[in-house]
Amino acid sequence: MSNIHPEHHRFLKRHDKESLLKQRGLAVWMCGLSGSGKSTIANATERVLHQQGRFTIILDGDNMRTGLNSNLGFSDDDRLENIRRLAETAKLLVENGVIVFISAITPRGELRDLARGLVGERNLFEVHVKASYQACEQRDVKGLYAKAARGEIEHFTGKDGSFEPPQNPHLVLDTEKLTIEEAAIELLEAIQDRINH
Ligand code: ADX
Repeated sequence: MSNIHPEHHRFLKRHDKESLLKQRGLAVWMCGLSGSGKSTIANATERVLHQQGRFTIILDGDNMRTGLNSNLGFSDDDRLENIRRLAETAKLLVENGVIVFISAITPRGELRDLARGLVGERNLFEVHVKASYQACEQRDVKGLYAKAARGEIEHFTGKDGSFEPPQNPHLVLDTEKLTIEEAAIELLEAIQDRINH
């Protein structure tokens, strides 16, 4: 960090951005197995918020891996770097008043701790989008579970890469029991107080 002089005092403050947007910034961190419904719920929830005049963005693991994170794979180190970049990006947006949905497997407690530390405890709302490996395997929207079963994917989460369920998430959305609409409504209710200006 030598010779680098971050400066913040001249810049417009978070409060200025939030007043303009008439909302408060929040990072809604959605973790869970591939195919559990993270992006689908983020999409449904974002659409309702958009209609309500809220300014939102989705940072989707798969999408980000085609751009900012395109040089990363699925080793432990690469997942750590993936989450670090997602968290830094989310932080930047939250500090400018945006409601950010992060849809990324985030398979280990260590990764979620890193994200919380970077984004800030009071800025982060942790959601576990919960579905069993078997349920995701049956859905297999992207055909990855079939590939993993054939041994064609290394470190596949839930198979040869572990998924540690979060210990203390703010919200659990069980997509084996809830429809997407029900999950989105639960999520909207849960974050309402945190995004109201
Ligand atoms: S994370 O573990 O680093 O948080 P991220 O959410 O960005 O993962 O990316 C997961 C997506 O990458 C999955 O939804 C799936 O489409 C794809 N993918 C490709 N290889 C793997 C793998 N080995 N394990 C899990 N997901 C994989």
